[in-house]
Amino acid sequence: MEHQGYEFVVVANRLAVNRVTTNEGATGWERSPGGLVTALAPIMAASEGAWVGWHGAADEELEPFDHEGLHLHPVPLTEREVHDFYEGFSNDTLWPLYHDVIVRPSFHRRWFNAYREVNQRFAEAAANVAGQGATVWVQDYQLQLVPQMLRDLRPDVTIGFFNHIPFPPPGIFAQLPWRHSVLRGLLGADLIGFQRESDARNFQRAVRSRLGHYIKSDRVYVPNEYDSQAGSPLKGFDADPERGTAPRQLSAPEEGTYRTAEARAFPISIDTETIQELAQDPSIISRAAQIRAELGHPKTIFLGVDRLDYTKGIRHRLKAYEELLREGELQVGDVTLVQIASPSREGVASYQQLRDEIDLTVGRINGEYDTMGHTAVRYLHHSYPLREMVALYLAADVMLVTALRDGMNLVAKEYVAARKSGDGVLVLSEFTGAADQLRQALLINPHDIEELKASMVTAATMDSDQARKRMRSLRRQVVSNNVSRWAKEFLESLSQQHTSA
Ligand code: F6P
Repeated sequence: MEHQGYEFVVVANRLAVNRVTTNEGATGWERSPGGLVTALAPIMAASEGAWVGWHGAADEELEPFDHEGLHLHPVPLTEREVHDFYEGFSNDTLWPLYHDVIVRPSFHRRWFNAYREVNQRFAEAAANVAGQGATVWVQDYQLQLVPQMLRDLRPDVTIGFFNHIPFPPPGIFAQLPWRHSVLRGLLGADLIGFQRESDARNFQRAVRSRLGHYIKSDRVYVPNEYDSQAGSPLKGFDADPERGTAPRQLSAPEEGTYRTAEARAFPISIDTETIQELAQDPSIISRAAQIRAELGHPKTIFLGVDRLDYTKGIRHRLKAYEELLREGELQVGDVTLVQIASPSREGVASYQQLRDEIDLTVGRINGEYDTMGHTAVRYLHHSYPLREMVALYLAADVMLVTALRDGMNLVAKEYVAARKSGDGVLVLSEFTGAADQLRQALLINPHDIEELKASMVTAATMDSDQARKRMRSLRRQVVSNNVSRWAKEFLESLSQQHTSA
């Protein structure tokens, strides 16, 4: 049967639009501000593309709709599924497991069942809208079973997968009771992209040690019998044992008995042009000056911008800052720290706990060190539009990115892109994907509080020539690698891999 439908389909947990309510109370949609949507929108417009994703509300079924040229196909989730699939398995099992077990992952069979069912729903939605021989690009850790499920339903389509978060070392990954299902799910793709080389290596090592597949030059040789019968896509997953390891294949299997799946790094970037344009907008430049004035014209503004997430190292940053104030290395009035923490995953207990801890710590620091005219920490638990973010990037002398583990960290790249004037210092955790590319940042281990403190002081006192030299090199990296180039490179590699698989 020849399938009618779109040539290019993106499948992501979130749809490419957010619901908004106007001042008059009417609801509508606006395009999501993220780089992924910005990068993929022109590709979708040029190639008749559709976006499959959850629209963010529970227990609501929506018909497909168009918005600003995007064809959107909402996938419904029940309230139970939001709890078990999104808050549970995605963000209380996989998220902590894939981020170095900073908090303990919870393993619940009911959550995995919901994950499998919801992944099946996404795969079916993609299979229904993809035209014959279409390219389908699946995004992120919430949908790791979709590639194989989709291949079972639609062997004619080319499937890409990109993991936006880290992929853990095999020893940590092995804790997952459904580890083989996840590996097999991912191996349904023709191309599996990761942020860092080390993530791709971790994945390859897990595949080799658990499933035994032969791997050469980033290509995994996947036996044909792994493709389960079309029409009964869960069959293969049910039959797959999670325990034990398969004997390791030491040479390529016989021609015709396998297909290959490529697994390698494609570090994501940002919409550099938009950030640079905003950074030159006179109203944003004057907003930056206004922010500095409102903060009392300190010599140094430190800035942290994060989702309120335990992976971001906000506690470590505050601890270092508090010690510097206590020891008199920094003085309120000379310095201030602006910490933006956007609300995130508030239904998950570890996020609620983190919020309480940060509230307490900020309250303590400000109680101790604020003066009548100046604040030690200006803490804002809100999300801001990109224009305000760029004004903050322009106002800040030092950007603090102290994540304990982060797939990439796009804030670091946005700060660099906004600093057209060539000054400003980036303090960057070596545990972010961005650290692989932004080598001229002040690289730190956020667990080493003394090193973090020393880097904060170095950043605040760095002479302007030195800061400019570093920023020049950082800017070269960020400006020449925007998110459109990332998408183009991934999709070109996907089409080459599909032809040679
Ligand atoms: O970094 C992974 C990611 O899923 C991003 O794609 C997203 O912006 C962020 O985490 C927040 O995700 P959500 O609000 O959907 O849980």
